[in-house]
Amino acid sequence: MDNPQPQPVVAPLTRAAIFLVVTVNPGDDSRTTVRAFCDDFPGLVRAVAFRDLEGYLSCVMGFGSSAWDRLFGSKRPAELHPFREIHAESRHAVATPGDILFHIRGARMDLCFELATQFMARLGKSVSPVDEVHGFQYFDDRDVIGFVDGTENPTGQEATDATLIGGEDPGFTGGSYVIVQKYLHDMPAWNGLSTEAQERIIGRSKLSDIELDDAVKPTSAHNALTTIVENGSEIKIVRDNMPFGNVARGEFGTYFIGYARSPRRTEQMLENMFVGRPPGNYDRLLDFSRAVTGNLFFVPSLNLLASLVAS
Ligand code: HEM
Repeated sequence: MDNPQPQPVVAPLTRAAIFLVVTVNPGDDSRTTVRAFCDDFPGLVRAVAFRDLEGYLSCVMGFGSSAWDRLFGSKRPAELHPFREIHAESRHAVATPGDILFHIRGARMDLCFELATQFMARLGKSVSPVDEVHGFQYFDDRDVIGFVDGTENPTGQEATDATLIGGEDPGFTGGSYVIVQKYLHDMPAWNGLSTEAQERIIGRSKLSDIELDDAVKPTSAHNALTTIVENGSEIKIVRDNMPFGNVARGEFGTYFIGYARSPRRTEQMLENMFVGRPPGNYDRLLDFSRAVTGNLFFVPSLNLLASLVAS
């Protein structure tokens, strides 16, 4: 496919986001409805986005491994597989159900909410919602544990190169892989640490968001374990994590979302975090954070999506 139009994987960080995961119900009717929805998807986004062009509404739609086969048949992206669980001592990266992800981003929650509502109205009984998280911007792009999140994300061409499939998988050029995990934090325990101890866990200073000097940064720091170097260059992903929560339920969370041209990149980071590099030298953030969901989705280019539902 020449110059396929990618979905808006690389979008600027926004104030609001909805992460909506659904499963596709059994039966031919559900399959037909979801395929018809895929045809309408770009138009629905355009319609809601046009109500406020300064709202920068965008949506990425991704498909899980078994849903891809069921909806679109045998032509598969080379690296699409179910999310790989990791067990290491008490740390567990769980795999949870999910056929379709909608990653809706905008400057205003009302636009995100309207789009999610329109999607679900159109999908009707063909899907069952599994999880819906409303993320918000928290002060200066901090996560709820108080650190600025997203600083070292690649931007511009580097972000495109990190996230979009090129010639390595002909037929799927312009596509991307996305891994999501919903984390809940033990805030009383985290707040019980000194700021210096928290900084050594993340690998950056809390207030000024400056990377710690290698002389003081432990090899188990979050930003050390998620840095992967191959043949002298860093292997990047693009993240757009969002805080979320429910004060009454004592729920304080980070919704992790990472886009990459190969899921291996994010999987390697997860292995380093959960198992450790070397094994045992794990990410101490996980002593205060528990993953309660885990999914891998493939994000086809808009051209591929259109051609799949037309055939
Ligand atoms: C509990 C959930 C998580 C929280 C609260 C969190 C928070 C942070 C923070 C505060 C930073 C430093 C600032 C920045 O560069 O963005 C960071 C960096 C980073 N995180 Fe996470 N993160 C989480 C989970 C993950 C996961 C699951 C991955 C990948 C599998 C990941 C990958 C990265 C990467 C690649 C960096 C940049 C490292 C660098 O180049 O310096 N994070 N994260």
